[in-house]
Amino acid sequence: MRSYMKTTAIALALTAAAGAAKADGHGVEVLHWWTSGGEAAALNVLKGDLEGQGIGWTDMPVAGGGGEQAMTVLRARVTAGNAPTAVQGLGFDIIDWANEGALANLNSVAIAEGWDDVIPAALQQFAKVDGAWVSAPVNVHSTNWVWANKAVLDANGIAVPETWEDFAAALEALAAAGVTPIAHGGQPWQDATVFDAVAMSALGPDGYQAAFVDLDPEALGSDAMKEAFDRMAVIRANVDENFSGRDWNLATAMVINGEAGFQMMGDWAKGEFLNADKVPGEDFLCFRFPGTQDQVTFNADQFMMFDQGGEVSAEQAALATAILSPSFQSAFNVVKGSVPARTDVSNADFDACGKQGMADLAAAAESGNLYGSMAHGHANEASVKNAMYDVITAHFNGEFDSETAVDELITAVEIAQ
Ligand code: BGC
Repeated sequence: MRSYMKTTAIALALTAAAGAAKADGHGVEVLHWWTSGGEAAALNVLKGDLEGQGIGWTDMPVAGGGGEQAMTVLRARVTAGNAPTAVQGLGFDIIDWANEGALANLNSVAIAEGWDDVIPAALQQFAKVDGAWVSAPVNVHSTNWVWANKAVLDANGIAVPETWEDFAAALEALAAAGVTPIAHGGQPWQDATVFDAVAMSALGPDGYQAAFVDLDPEALGSDAMKEAFDRMAVIRANVDENFSGRDWNLATAMVINGEAGFQMMGDWAKGEFLNADKVPGEDFLCFRFPGTQDQVTFNADQFMMFDQGGEVSAEQAALATAILSPSFQSAFNVVKGSVPARTDVSNADFDACGKQGMADLAAAAESGNLYGSMAHGHANEASVKNAMYDVITAHFNGEFDSETAVDELITAVEIAQ
């Protein structure tokens, strides 16, 4: 009874404060990088939710997949003493901002709503610092997916590849038929996203952990790492000549339109297929990168709430509550291509790829096959990640052969630490 009254009192206080916020024109200012068609459609689910509660939304979009540009803008805003209310963040970046003392403590909301019981440990490690919840997890994405145009594969007699060798053969068949085998955008974060899956296939889960999480020089310098770079060279040979600098969603559009067979990309790509009214299993296929069928390399979008003067504000609390509500977790992630950050959300509204994503995530967590994505800031901190990006991109663009890339990787990681 007492705790019910307390919860009710907090709820009433929040509602009153939120109403006041509406009345005096304040709301939430949200910095994010969800600017593609599919991403914007998902964001509208969140905007609509808050607007329905009478909370205003000031949009601060910073284009650039993976969020590097958004993080640069954020740094400038914080330095100027003008942090946005809520900011999309990933992995180690969240921990860094918390350690700088920049984030509000969300425990009043998180404890009342029992986040500890429904958010998996793999996410909590990037959402809680010293016992304080500092961000609200929106979803779980994963990077080791391949997206394929079904008609293109059927026309060329290509079945879903099970192994790297099958995949290489499929690329050859498409090239011979005059179809661009792989749609890719040559931007460092996209090269690194592809590398997540390729490295997992070549190194295996233990090698991935040793190289990207433990930063073990032996794993970084292994023959398996050289094999990963060799596979990247095969992928480089199968992209079209205009790949350089292309945005990821334009690469997805090439697969949607049948100009290319495959794209290796995180499951935000599914948002683009859905936004173009394409149906999984009919128009497009989703499958784990060959050789990584048992693994999930994940990243989770979260909203960090920047400290606005000691306490979490009523609007920030309302935003956090909205994000964690089971109905929002389903509605948003169905559109976004990701899967819920809560373990207790039904898969009923998800399509076949979403259902597979949810099942894969649960199985990988259970079997110890869930790994943070290096490319999306969940394996190591930004300085190391950026050092890895440089080497991966330089190799992809032919500056280094695979052997040199391995040596450069060891050195770059050593310097970055
Ligand atoms: C984010 C996704 C986003 C993608 C492309 C990733 O880092 O986690 O939410 O859709 O970048 O912008």
